[in-house]
Amino acid sequence: MARKKMDPFERVLKNVHTILDDGTIYNEAIGIENEYANHTLFKLTSFNYMQNIYCQVMKNQEWLKHCYYVDLMGGSGCTKIRDRSLYALGSPILAAINSNEMGRLFEKIICVEVEKQRAEALYSRLCAVYPKERVIVYNCAAEEIIPEIIQETSGKGCHSLVCVDYQNTQGPGFNDLIPLLNERRDIIITLMTQTLWRAFNYAKVRDFDPRSCEAMAKFFGNGCPQWKEATCQEYLEELYCNNIRSYDRRVETVKIQNEDCNFNFSTCFSCKNTKSDSPFMKGIVELNNFFHEKPDILKIVLDKVEHKITQLDDYL
Ligand SMILES: C[S@@+](CC[C@H](N)C(=O)[O-])C[C@H]1O[C@@H](n2cnc3c(N)ncnc32)[C@H](O)[C@@H]1O
Repeated sequence: MARKKMDPFERVLKNVHTILDDGTIYNEAIGIENEYANHTLFKLTSFNYMQNIYCQVMKNQEWLKHCYYVDLMGGSGCTKIRDRSLYALGSPILAAINSNEMGRLFEKIICVEVEKQRAEALYSRLCAVYPKERVIVYNCAAEEIIPEIIQETSGKGCHSLVCVDYQNTQGPGFNDLIPLLNERRDIIITLMTQTLWRAFNYAKVRDFDPRSCEAMAKFFGNGCPQWKEATCQEYLEELYCNNIRSYDRRVETVKIQNEDCNFNFSTCFSCKNTKSDSPFMKGIVELNNFFHEKPDILKIVLDKVEHKITQLDDYL
């Protein structure tokens, strides 16, 4: 009998359930967690979705000898959803789970986290779901360690999925990422569009004096001073993506936006240009379209998750 194709809503709901913590991860380092507003659930949903497709595609590559997951802003492994009694799994934990499902695809999971307590919590949490000898957590600023990570994960038959989950403009700058963009690695970057817009306006009202421009100049890199010409939030986002494209890369974004709840950001996925069409990219376009078609999805999903409603009929 043919299996019923999953409705996109059903798929996202299933995905949101996957990213919620049942207490196992939280309990590994009680009280140490990142705390963000509820739209983080959608960021994590899109990370999980992208990691899952990556693992599925890579596990069938005969040329692949060593596969790595690199998270340059790893967090603590656990996120509390602000004003809710909900905890979600952080991006490195999701990567470990996705990798486990594929028979431990990632030879190593390498993370960087600048805050000591978070780095320690992340290490304990990762070791609870992945073999200790395959876990590395560096406690330093990502920009200091990128060259070492590149060395550790390069070579014939190597491939990696890199995640750069910005919270604002802090963290490695665009110039720091160039060596990664130049190589055949897949990269997920969070673009906090609204925060970038605020940082742009901060500099603009100060007539772009050098100090007020520091954060944006680092974020966009030396080769992209055009951020000063921004006319809207989307301009900044498109500029950043085009900057990535100039490194012979394809970019697709999943836009997560809701004017009522006042948030606007994107997760952007990029890979080196290839001749053939990528099934990966198709999947990302599909997720983006879905978030657009159902702008009230965040509220519906949160209600469902909180009340543990699994019957979909009333919304379909
Ligand atoms: C948005 S959070 C990451 C959340 C994580 N991806 C998750 O899903 O749980 C960004 C993290 O980057 C860390 N951070 C900030 N600047 C950094 C830097 N220069 N290098 C490494 N980590 C940094 C922050 O302490 C914070 O925990």
